[in-house]
Amino acid sequence: MTDLLEPRAIGRDLVRRDGVAKVRGTATYAYETPVDRPAYAFPVQATVARGRVTAMDTTAAEALDGVLVVLTPFTAERLASTEDREYAVLQSDEVAFRGQLVGVVVAETSELARQAADSVVVTYDERPHDTELSVDRDDLYRPDALGDGAESDTSEGDVAAAMAAAEVTLEHTYSTAMYHNNPLEPHATTALWDGGQLVLWDSTQGVHPDRAAVCEVFGLAEDQVRVVCPYVGGGFGAKGEPHANVMLATMAARAVPGRPVKLALTRQQMFTLAGYRTPTIQQVQLAADHRGRLQAIAIDVVEQTSRVKEFAEQTGVPTRMMYASPNRRTTHRLAALDVPVNSWMRAPGECPGMFGPEVALDELAETLGIDPIQLRIRNEPEVDPETGKPWSSRHLVECLREGAQRFGWADRPPPRHRDGDWLVGTGVASSVYPTQRMAQSTAIVRYEDGRYVAEIGAADLGTGTWTTLPQIAADALGVPVEDVEVRIGDTRYPIASVAGGSSGMNTWGSAVVEAARTFREKFGRDPADGDEAENSVDQAAQDEDHAPYAFGAQFAEVRVHADTGELRVPRLLGVFAAGRIINPRTARSQFVGGMTMGLSMALHENSVWDDRIGQVANHDLAEYHITVNADVGDVQAHWLDEHDPYVNAMGTKGIGEIGIVGTAAAVVNAVHRATGVRVRHLPVTLDKLLADLP
Ligand code: MOS
Repeated sequence: MTDLLEPRAIGRDLVRRDGVAKVRGTATYAYETPVDRPAYAFPVQATVARGRVTAMDTTAAEALDGVLVVLTPFTAERLASTEDREYAVLQSDEVAFRGQLVGVVVAETSELARQAADSVVVTYDERPHDTELSVDRDDLYRPDALGDGAESDTSEGDVAAAMAAAEVTLEHTYSTAMYHNNPLEPHATTALWDGGQLVLWDSTQGVHPDRAAVCEVFGLAEDQVRVVCPYVGGGFGAKGEPHANVMLATMAARAVPGRPVKLALTRQQMFTLAGYRTPTIQQVQLAADHRGRLQAIAIDVVEQTSRVKEFAEQTGVPTRMMYASPNRRTTHRLAALDVPVNSWMRAPGECPGMFGPEVALDELAETLGIDPIQLRIRNEPEVDPETGKPWSSRHLVECLREGAQRFGWADRPPPRHRDGDWLVGTGVASSVYPTQRMAQSTAIVRYEDGRYVAEIGAADLGTGTWTTLPQIAADALGVPVEDVEVRIGDTRYPIASVAGGSSGMNTWGSAVVEAARTFREKFGRDPADGDEAENSVDQAAQDEDHAPYAFGAQFAEVRVHADTGELRVPRLLGVFAAGRIINPRTARSQFVGGMTMGLSMALHENSVWDDRIGQVANHDLAEYHITVNADVGDVQAHWLDEHDPYVNAMGTKGIGEIGIVGTAAAVVNAVHRATGVRVRHLPVTLDKLLADLP
């Protein structure tokens, strides 16, 4: 399928086209949209985790000079659809989690809106809440489908029998913490209702999916709504689907027609309203012969969902395809709790799901006395174990070997190696992410004032779309990249899929290639001003005969202070096989960013749940720790020159998420090598090491 065989712009290390505007501060984000006479909205949030709102006294708020409107569940407009209960803001007096939206104030200034929201008196009929996840709850249930649409449980052969018969077995429970996405730019919207037309300047990973959700909830036709989003200050999945804040901003704006309304979540509000990654508990079983060939691999996952809306993180899915084994089982069980709505966070499924199994493999390698790289190579499957299909391309072994060579794996220090006061160790783990392409995206290519313009409602959430999409368009048209302009981030342009599932470039790039091809067929190489052609992702051309995945190998060096347990990670190194790389500069940024976020998951991030009141205790950046520059040493990302003819016209696999997959396991494995302490529950904090340091 790859037909851009002579890439000229693709592969070039071009600087970000939006870089100057961002550095100079002239790139406008959703909240900063220049509008006339803006008003400001501030939410009122429930202060109980479960119950009913029995009364809301808004008189003090309304008495403040400059307050325009106060909406409550008793006064707000009725929405056209309340089917998605996350979006059904102010439609019911029921409180399903602490922090749920129960009102909104619109005022002349943001300070006034906040003050007024604080002065709204809410009376509750509070009921006991249930917010504590555990494996022994008697109400765990099997979801109908996982977040990615896959089935909840899979089974092949007989894991129990293989466990009973095998020469070596391993059975341990691993867990990952609750994590919250904290993009630099909070969730923010400027909403304007004007004569039946709605404009939303919204920080989103997809203007068209955003619009579709708003139209559904408010019962609007698509031509009544325009969503604009040229720049996003990070999303990581938290802006992949709109959250309730977008509906609240829209509703607030409708209450003050003609006035643009700005609503930005505070950092604390993001810990209840912007989604998060569920904590996961992973029971992993491995059975192997003495040479390390797996006889069984199983993962049984327990995780949570909100009662408001089900999201089943697909934690077990990488275990279905990663390694060869005749007997295999994956299951997911959910606890529906009185908690905020969990959702997407960079590599949902693969990120937590490659923690337990990749640590378990390290434990198995140690038991068997086999090098952990060799153990992985020994279990390399010839075809996809899940579907039986051949791989579109799979270069995991090459990633492991090249990584080992670059990292200096052969010279790794022996277990519990001591360098002065520091214990030093190295570890490895694999990475994987499915190569996905969405069903729907369309592009227009036009010849305009002597240059080519491609229009598509794609998103750039900091990933580089402004820069990389022109590279694809230029090669598809056979013109210099300088002669191509791309316009994205507006529903005025043709429909585009979400920047999610690492599918953006695969999908939008395919649409741009199709539109460029149509343009050349129609107008040849000497078009007239105004000539334009439109075409879409070609679903018929989607290869169904191969299993498409990107792979990688990650290596970590850790140093643990022998007396204090202080933990440092001076080196991370990843080698990825992720198809054709459009732009090494922006790609490296994605890989290194993902690995850094993986380091953050390993050592720092942890939403500490307070069951007594039903909320995250450390719900701000002072106490929710995220890896910063001082924590990061030498992070290197490399990639193989991989050509995959099956995935799409560009040969790309998507690189936004794979970098976070496997990092935490590599760090934990290195910690064990350094200290002899096996940490199975993230994050690795020094209290988990201190008692058992050598
Ligand atoms: Mo990503 S979590 O699919 O935006």
